Amino acid sequence: MIYLVTGGAGFIGANFVKYLLGTHREIQIVVLDSLTYAGNLGTIKEDLKDARLTFVKGDIKDSKVVDGIFDRHPINFVVNFAAESHVDRSIENPQVFLETNILGTQNLLDAAKKHWSTGKDDHGYPTYKAGVKYLQVSTDEVYGSLGATGYFTETTPLDPRSPYSASKTGADLIVKAYGETYKMPVNITRCSNNYGPYHFPEKLIPLIIKNILEGKKLPVYGDGSNVRDWLYVEDHCKAIDAVVLRGTVGEVYNVGGHNEKKNIDIVKLIISTMRQMLEEHPEYRTAIKGIAGQARNDISYINEDLITYVTDRLGHDQRYAIDPSKITAELGWEPETKFEDGIVKTIRWYLENQDWVDEVTSGDYQKYYKQMYGKR
Ligand code: NAD
Ligand code: TYD
Repeated sequence: MIYLVTGGAGFIGANFVKYLLGTHREIQIVVLDSLTYAGNLGTIKEDLKDARLTFVKGDIKDSKVVDGIFDRHPINFVVNFAAESHVDRSIENPQVFLETNILGTQNLLDAAKKHWSTGKDDHGYPTYKAGVKYLQVSTDEVYGSLGATGYFTETTPLDPRSPYSASKTGADLIVKAYGETYKMPVNITRCSNNYGPYHFPEKLIPLIIKNILEGKKLPVYGDGSNVRDWLYVEDHCKAIDAVVLRGTVGEVYNVGGHNEKKNIDIVKLIISTMRQMLEEHPEYRTAIKGIAGQARNDISYINEDLITYVTDRLGHDQRYAIDPSKITAELGWEPETKFEDGIVKTIRWYLENQDWVDEVTSGDYQKYYKQMYGKR
């Protein structure tokens, strides 16, 4: 089977590439990624030594590039991770979100349709090669925001509220339209907040870990009461794999971690877990950046005094919670990683991979941080 994985140098896409290579022997993968600030070739550097993996630097909106990939490789599966993915950035600059997330998706669908169609049936509908599928990686944010109770199911009305989630909703609708109109074999997965290795430190969990190691304040938006459902990234990869291979064509599958947490509780848990890990494993203290006026071995500064409540995100969704019972019932998928274990694995990965953090934040990150947090 030949996969086109877009956004495969980003957080979830790279984890998915590693998962595929480690799980399926008889595969070929083409990664298409334009390497925005969020994409980093270093993340899949080791994987690129594997002859089964090919990397193409290019934009999902570029039909020449995408057509060229289909011309050179008989793609069976497209898994579209490529996107602008950060809500805060979408509030500052919505346009690139609409361009990449909606028009990029449409361009991929067009190329897949062109290369996969084999003719027309008696009713004039296109017919397709066997064993092909387009999977759109979407988000629970398309369902909007919940109050204190309830869960998103696949039939919850779409009600996006941020430019990011609106653009992801637009993409979902165009995928659905290609499924209905052209009878293309498509699936959509909508997952909750992922966490784990290779997460760019603009999102809550890796940002908090990074700031602790730098002795910086830990910015909590609003009163910290917003709730997210956290899913360990490897569990998400397993869900996508199951939907690609066994999902019913045309269906949407929600993917969640059964793990709702308030932001403030996440931040406090990271502080206490990290402090304990650094106490028990002094060798990890080399990950602490030089903090002015403080001995490198002194970890007493890692406490809740680092927390600072800052101006809330505009239109901040209050709560996301997923009911994943459909994917469990139909495909037997369940989240396997307990949050308490997943967060330890994640923190350990960051303690051991500061080189990666330094590499991905070597560009405009400081400027971004100042712009985003300086004014809060
Ligand atoms: P990410 O921002 O870490 O990575 C996105 C990748 O896409 C990067 O490698 C970037 O270079 C690439 N990219 C961006 N624009 C591109 C373009 N025009 N052409 C080609 N490549 C481009 O994102 P992520 O967190 O890995 O998210 C992956 C997907 O999962 C996204 O579609 C996102 O909406 C969805 N999602 C993410 C989460 C989460 O918690 N991270 C939750 C739900 C859904
Ligand atoms: P984030 O990781 O950006 O994911 P999303 O907005 O897609 O859910 O944010 C997770 C939650 O953490 C969200 O409620 C916003 C909040 N948050 C903070 O409180 N401080 C921060 O510095 C960041 C980045 C997020």
